[in-house]
Amino acid sequence: MLPKKIETALNKQINQEANASYFYLSMASWCEYQGLNGAAKFLYLQSEEERVHMLKIFRYVNEAGGQAITPVIPKFPTKYKSVSEVFEKSLMQEISNTKSINSLVADCLKEKDFSTFHFLQWYVAEQHEEEMTFKNILSKIEILGSDGKGIYMIDKAIGKIADQEPT
Ligand code: FEO
Repeated sequence: MLPKKIETALNKQINQEANASYFYLSMASWCEYQGLNGAAKFLYLQSEEERVHMLKIFRYVNEAGGQAITPVIPKFPTKYKSVSEVFEKSLMQEISNTKSINSLVADCLKEKDFSTFHFLQWYVAEQHEEEMTFKNILSKIEILGSDGKGIYMIDKAIGKIADQEPT
């Protein structure tokens, strides 16, 4: 049986993953509007991935005997200063999500909820991967620079990362 405290924390995490999905969607839209099609492609994919992360927890809560609560989505910005800002914000959002997953994992141990602890291991590994991906993109941005040609090459490089993502 799912402890009440863990059910509440999982519902908070559902909200967090859904928010991440819409945050990426808002950045994908801005990038596409700017003609940054590679970055937009990557961010659309990222948005879909976050929705999958959200749904996996959603289904788990109900399967484990709790009740999943539909997330509340705030309004996200429609404008960003630059492609660097987009990916800096993305990394910050992933770091904050890693903290949230880690605290959830710690709660599971405290509550002796080993089933949810096991379920969350996938998220621990996924957070590691995602932080690495965004750090990798930010180093590319730093290396290639932010003049016109640099942006063109960054966009191409990010598009290539999206092409390598499993669908
Ligand atoms: Fe679902 Fe990027 O965390």
